[in-house]
Amino acid sequence: MIKLGIFDSGLGGLTVYKTLRESIPCADILYLGDTARVPYGTKSAATVTRYAIEIVRYLVDREVEAVVVACNTASAYAMDTLRKTARVPVFGVVFPGARAAVKATRNGIVGVVGTRGTVASGAYQRAIEKLSPTIKVHASPCPLFVPLVEEGWLEDEITHQVAQRYLEPLIAEKVDTLVLGCTHYPLLKNVISKIMGDDVVLIDSAEETGFKVKDYLACEDRLRERKPGGDQFEVTDSPSRFAEVGRIFLNRSLENVSQVNVTEGDEVDGSDL
Ligand code: DGL
Repeated sequence: MIKLGIFDSGLGGLTVYKTLRESIPCADILYLGDTARVPYGTKSAATVTRYAIEIVRYLVDREVEAVVVACNTASAYAMDTLRKTARVPVFGVVFPGARAAVKATRNGIVGVVGTRGTVASGAYQRAIEKLSPTIKVHASPCPLFVPLVEEGWLEDEITHQVAQRYLEPLIAEKVDTLVLGCTHYPLLKNVISKIMGDDVVLIDSAEETGFKVKDYLACEDRLRERKPGGDQFEVTDSPSRFAEVGRIFLNRSLENVSQVNVTEGDEVDGSDL
């Protein structure tokens, strides 16, 4: 049996969970959403890296055999550190998204959208330039996309207006490929595609990461198991909001969401004050 851990700052990583669940039905998946400390997209590299280390340690203690860092901001800031410190393979979303963009572009001009942290980190820009130094990358933060998705306003007029404002500079740069470099953005594909036009290829980092993890397991000859795997959803704050908004991501209700503490012993709790 394969046991995979996925982590995200909150519930956006459900886009990655969905592709993993579809492409690797036999895996047991433990999803950890750090809802007590979300958002990561506005926090510093040092803070996000510390959170990511704590969570990967927690997941490894729960005996997962690989960790998928679904959160783009955590992948952008912390992948190198996580790979060096974790005892199991760690997969991020940045490299698979970058690789797909390099394959897709025809005119060599790629756009990247993500949180402020992801864009400021330069991680997508570096990954794309490393794969193909002649490609020009234009990256733009779209911070209002996350709350719009969590409101469920996936195709509203207001979402369209916000997207238009964020995306116009990328249209002006003539990008022919756009990386959706944030967990939530794949839910806005319809609106983004309407604005960018049919000729612009949208790269879904969540989907690309699912393929990459599947390839890894296939190489290890681990996909023969026929029995469907189980899901476990854990969050660091009250589970009710996660279960409610999770419906927007999965079109189904989420059961068995439990609250856990990933920093047991390390943090001061109220009783110490
Ligand atoms: N999950 C985050 C990401 O993909 C978006 C939400 C946040 O800012 O924490 O970057």
